[in-house]
Amino acid sequence: MKSHSNSNSVRRKLHSSVQASPWRPGSLLRFSLRDYAFCMATLSVFCFGSLFYQLNGGPPKILLEMRQYLASPQRCSPSPCVVYNRVGKCGSRTVVLLLRILAEKHRFNLVSSDIHNKTRLTEQEQVDLMKNISVIPQPFLYTRHVHFLNFTRFRIEQPVYINIIRDPINRFLSNYFFRRFGDWRGEQNHLIRTPGMKDDERYLDINVCILESYPECSNPRLFYIIPYFCGQHPQCREPGLWALERAKQNVLENFLLVGVLEELEDTLLLLERLLPHYFSGVLSIYKSPDYRKIGNLTGTVRKQPPTLEALQVLYQRMKYEYDFYNFIREQFHLLKKKIGLRSAEEEPDQEEEPDQEEELEDASLWLVHP
Ligand SMILES: *[C@@H]1O[C@H](CO)[C@@H](O)[C@H](O)[C@H]1NC(C)=O
Ligand SMILES: *[C@@H]1O[C@H](CO)[C@@H](O)[C@H](O)[C@H]1NC(C)=O
Ligand SMILES: *[C@@H]1O[C@H](CO)[C@@H](O)[C@H](O)[C@H]1NC(C)=O
Ligand SMILES: *[C@@H]1O[C@H](CO)[C@@H](O)[C@H](O)[C@H]1NC(C)=O
Repeated sequence: MKSHSNSNSVRRKLHSSVQASPWRPGSLLRFSLRDYAFCMATLSVFCFGSLFYQLNGGPPKILLEMRQYLASPQRCSPSPCVVYNRVGKCGSRTVVLLLRILAEKHRFNLVSSDIHNKTRLTEQEQVDLMKNISVIPQPFLYTRHVHFLNFTRFRIEQPVYINIIRDPINRFLSNYFFRRFGDWRGEQNHLIRTPGMKDDERYLDINVCILESYPECSNPRLFYIIPYFCGQHPQCREPGLWALERAKQNVLENFLLVGVLEELEDTLLLLERLLPHYFSGVLSIYKSPDYRKIGNLTGTVRKQPPTLEALQVLYQRMKYEYDFYNFIREQFHLLKKKIGLRSAEEEPDQEEEPDQEEELEDASLWLVHP
């Protein structure tokens, strides 16, 4: 946008200066000489470029980069490639159910990976996965619990990213109890999900876990949301400023929308506005009685909130996560304002939303992260 308007104004300036200078016969020759020099310079640049091309056995990097700049929206436009690298326990189960309905309605390819416990990949695995994703017939939406993949780094067309997060402590609590006691499927479910878990661990008091700094309730495991946005770099998993800043930057550069579960309806509404190919009508599906019936699979059982003291300790340990979450909320509210949505924050039943949005899929996530 910016460069476009810049070049426009440059063009306008050139135009007006040409018009302003009165035409004199003498100036014609000078003009032609300059033109000639310019022409030769261009030609020699071209020749050197060509030579360079051949010596290198391929196009020079700068040409490739220029091509990327000039012609990048060829394949993924207007928006037939979307990746939703869903964060665990942030309502993605609900969104995937909605996507199944939407995919049929709007005829896009929904590919929902059933790998739930591998969010970071080796370089080879990254390349394999990105290649797999890029050959899905368009338009497509690919979704998996996986940390951000940098397609451009491997010269593959970068898709549009979307995601949803929630309050970090609520996410943590939801996961803590889900891992132990499952959800609506009843008491047997957790035995299937986490069969190796000893009763000591299953019935571990969450306050003890936090206050006695068990690994599950300490860093780096509490550093959970940021790596999804930072990427596959090892430093992305080290709690700290570097990963935080990179995650923020990356959200601005590569994510079309990061919604918040606390305002799920507005998130859906924004998705509808921003990606109508995929999401138009999503809110009415979400609110329909039929969906409510399927969507009501939820509610982690036996949730017992930690003491205030434990919560404060948790909050301290998750300060980067909160910094990121607050940043996302700000961005989200800015976008809502820009698009002209009234905030639905004050509506009374919004508060309960997160508790109902439980996920069945990623109970074992925490087992995998060492
Ligand atoms: C992920 O879970 C599957 C079973 O659901 C298991 O076979 C596999 O080893 C796990 N992967 C990792 C990286 O732990
Ligand atoms: C890519 O797709 C192939 C064939 O469908 C599959 O066997 C392979 O596991 C996939 N690789 C990744 C990283 O998803
Ligand atoms: C992605 O890769 C490109 C090229 O290597 C790099 O400039 C960019 O910073 C990377 N972005 C992220 C978020 O890692
Ligand atoms: C969800 O299920 C619970 C228990 O099965 C039931 O009490 C509740 O009314 C249901 N809610 C909706 C919106 O259907």
